[in-house]
Amino acid sequence: MRQNLLRADSALLRYPIREVVTIGKRLEKLGNFSMIWENIGDPVSAGENVPAWMHEVVQKQVSTDQSFAYTETKGAIAAREYVLEHFSNKKKCTVDDILFFNGLGEAINKVMNNLPKETRVLMPSPTYPSHATAESMHAGCSFISYSLDPNNDWEPDIEEIENKVRYNDHVVAILVINPNNPTGSVYKRETLEKIVAIAKKYDCFLIFDEIYHHMTFDGVQTTLLHEIIGDVPGISMKGISKDIPWPGSRCGWIEVYNAEKDDNFKGFIEIILLTKMLEVCSTTLPQIVLPHLYQHPEYKTYLKSRIEKYQRRADEAYEFFASIPQVRVNKPKGVFYLVVELLNLPLRKLDSVNKKVRLHLDKLETSDTPPDFQFSYELMGAEGICVVPLTGFGASITGFRMTLLQENDAIFSDTLARIARGIKAYYS
Ligand SMILES: Cc1ncc(COP(=O)(O)O)c(C=O)c1O
Repeated sequence: MRQNLLRADSALLRYPIREVVTIGKRLEKLGNFSMIWENIGDPVSAGENVPAWMHEVVQKQVSTDQSFAYTETKGAIAAREYVLEHFSNKKKCTVDDILFFNGLGEAINKVMNNLPKETRVLMPSPTYPSHATAESMHAGCSFISYSLDPNNDWEPDIEEIENKVRYNDHVVAILVINPNNPTGSVYKRETLEKIVAIAKKYDCFLIFDEIYHHMTFDGVQTTLLHEIIGDVPGISMKGISKDIPWPGSRCGWIEVYNAEKDDNFKGFIEIILLTKMLEVCSTTLPQIVLPHLYQHPEYKTYLKSRIEKYQRRADEAYEFFASIPQVRVNKPKGVFYLVVELLNLPLRKLDSVNKKVRLHLDKLETSDTPPDFQFSYELMGAEGICVVPLTGFGASITGFRMTLLQENDAIFSDTLARIARGIKAYYS
C-alpha cells in the first residue's frame, strides 16, 4: 500500500468475548471435540427455544409493507412511544429524546466516537468490553476506570470515582452499568445517588447502560437513571437483546435526559443524531415488532420464567463455586452471568490436553499472556469449556465470566464439574 493502512492505536481494538471463539474453534478441530460455549450472552445459542408466539408476532409484522421501508432516523414512532411510556419517564423525556440504533453496541460506539478526542468517559472495571474499547479508540489510549469492589458485592468505589473526576478535568462523563455485566450485581440506590451527585458537582454527564433492567433476581429492584437523575444531563442505554431472545435483531436505543438544561450536551446529542442520519436509520423490522412483543399477553409470564431459570442457575453455580478454596464468588443479584475470581492464580500447563492442542497452546501462551487468559486457554484445551477471562473485561483481578444461560440441567451441572476439575488441576 502506498500509505500505511494500520491505525497506530489498533492494538486497543479488543472484544475478548468473541476473540476466545476463534481460539476455541481451532482447539476443537485440533483436539476433535465439541466445546461448550460459555462466553456469550445469547440465550438462543445456549439452547433456548424461541416461543411460537414470538415467531408469529415477527411473521405478522414482516408481512407488512411498512417493515420493508426506512424509519425516521430517530426510530419508528410506535417503538419510541412504547419505550417512553413503559421504560422511561414522560416527565423527563419525550419521544424526541429517544434514538434507536442497530443494537446497543452501535449506540455505545456512536456516543463514544462523537466525543472530542481529549474528553474521557470514566468506566467501571471490570466493564463490558464494547464500552472500554470504543472509549479507548476514541481517545487513542487506554481507558480510565474506577473499581467495582468484590469485597462489597461489586459495588462501585465512590471515593475513587470522585477522585478520578476531581483530578482529571478531561473526564466529562461517568459510565455505570446497572444491573451489571459481568458481575451480576445490582447497585444500591444510595450508591447511584452518590454518582449522580458527583456528576452534578463536577459538571459531567452520566451514561447508564441499563440493558439488563428487567433481569433481577429475588425481587431485587433496580433503580433506573431517570428516577434519580434530577437535572443532570444523562443518557440511559437500553435494548431488546436481553429482554427478548432475539439479540440477532440488533435493536437498542438511548433515552436522553435534561438535554435542554445544557446547550453543550444538547449539541453533542445533535451530533450523534447527525451521524446516525448518515446511515439513514436503524433496521425497521425489530422496531415495529417491539411494541407487539412486549405487549403480548404471554410476555410477562415468559420473562418471569426466564428470570427464575437464570436465578436457579445462579444459585446452583454460586453454591458450587463457594466450596472451592482457590476461588471467590459473589452471588449474582441479576443478569445472567457469574464472575469467578481465581485467587493467586499460578501459570500452569495442564497434562490432560492432547498433543496437537498442546502444540497450539504452547505457541499461543507467551510471556505476555495474562494469567487468566492462559487459564481459559488451558480450560478450553483440557475440559472443552470456553469462558471469558476477567482481565478481558478490563479488570485487574484475575478470574473468568461464565453464563447462566445453559438450557439443559445435565449439561449445566457437567459444565460446573468440568470447570472445577480444570481449576483443581491448574492449582495442583
Ligand atoms: C452491558 C451491555 N451493554 C450492551 C450490550 C450490547 O447489546 P446489543 O446486543 O444491543 O448490542 C451488551 C451485550 O451483551 C451488554 O452486556
